[in-house]
Amino acid sequence: MMETKKFNENFLIGASTAAHQVEGNNTNSDFWVMEQLPGTVYKDPSLDAVDHYNRYEEDIKLMAEAGLNAYRFSIEWARIEPSKGNFDKKEIEHYRDVLKCCHEHGITPVVTLHHFSSPIWLISAGGWEQESTIGHFEEYTRYVVSELGDLIPYICTINEANMGIQITRIMEKYKRQAEMAQKVDLKKSEVQTGLNIQSQSSMAQYFMACGEAFGIDPRDVQVFLASRTDKGNKIIMTCHEKARRIIKELKPEIQVGITLSLYDYQTIPGGESYVKKLEEEDFLQYLPSIQEDDFFGLQNYTRKIYGPEGIIDPSEGTRMTDMGNEYYPEALEGVIRSVANHWKKPILVTENGVASTNDKDRVEFIEKAIEGIQQCMAEGIDVRGYLHWSLLDNFEWQKGYEPKFGLIAVDRTTQTRYPKESLKVLGSYSSK
Ligand code: BGC
Repeated sequence: MMETKKFNENFLIGASTAAHQVEGNNTNSDFWVMEQLPGTVYKDPSLDAVDHYNRYEEDIKLMAEAGLNAYRFSIEWARIEPSKGNFDKKEIEHYRDVLKCCHEHGITPVVTLHHFSSPIWLISAGGWEQESTIGHFEEYTRYVVSELGDLIPYICTINEANMGIQITRIMEKYKRQAEMAQKVDLKKSEVQTGLNIQSQSSMAQYFMACGEAFGIDPRDVQVFLASRTDKGNKIIMTCHEKARRIIKELKPEIQVGITLSLYDYQTIPGGESYVKKLEEEDFLQYLPSIQEDDFFGLQNYTRKIYGPEGIIDPSEGTRMTDMGNEYYPEALEGVIRSVANHWKKPILVTENGVASTNDKDRVEFIEKAIEGIQQCMAEGIDVRGYLHWSLLDNFEWQKGYEPKFGLIAVDRTTQTRYPKESLKVLGSYSSK
């Protein structure tokens, strides 16, 4: 183990989760529907997940005992507003208890309002390509913040608002290759984490089933993790801006940001134009919409390298994660630096982590990632926290329960928790 250089006491050291991935029985959400369909592209249905809905107290205690001082989790829209316009006070009480539990254990809550899953009714009404979603998101935000705002210091409005654009990029390439009747040759390193793009043929059948399930034309099924048009991209950013305005109007002291999925794009001679375009698409285009935010939620998992012919696949023997991307914790430092070139306000690392069944990989990943953060901070970059993905081994979207991202293992037959060494290592950086 490297020597631990502790952060000062205001620095947030913690872990992240998302409601659908950990709570269990999120029955009013679009993912619940999609996981259960015939021909589903989801490896496992989420079912009870890791029962965090009932066991949050135990999980928060484990975090606190290990020395963590922050917890990023999401509030599930599908629970709060299970049918259009009907808000469920009982679910507000649930999240109030979770928030209180954080405070009682000296844990600063960082709340995400939308982390990929949406209410079924929203998707049936056109989902994330439909203008009316803006008004619905505003109402949901207003309700949550007026009910719970007094307990929330930080809000991430939307998780990885740019994910749809990243999916579009991959899908377009896929389509071009298919149209040219070429053998589809998507390089491994391009395939989006969690997006089961390989099974394209079975996806046609699955899309039909989705249409039927949501009661609309399959082409109109616009869940959050789908290709995004420019119009959809604008709708998402308008949701963010309007939500920020509402939060500030109700509780000006809440710190508001958005989170984006960012890669450490690197180039060898000849790849510069690719990287320039990707940085514009993934990050720079969003700057006007986030100017008034209080912090930037940075999420990073790996790097991608470009050359004259486009992306360069990791060479034979490269160390890889169980998600099929390169094991490269140094990417975080690279991304922080490139964000800081354009963003002078606080940066919060809201996700960073590694899928591995060997916890030693995670320990090393955390140590290197944090070393990078500390280097950036020493040079004057304003990083305010590091929230590791993820607190628990959980439901990894299309890849189901196989990838292990957690600082805590869970035996899902008994829902017993087994804290890993990495939890302790992460906690050792906080001066709590
Ligand atoms: C998402 C998480 C996901 C993680 C690992 C991020 O893109 O926000 O929900 O589990 O990546 O794939």
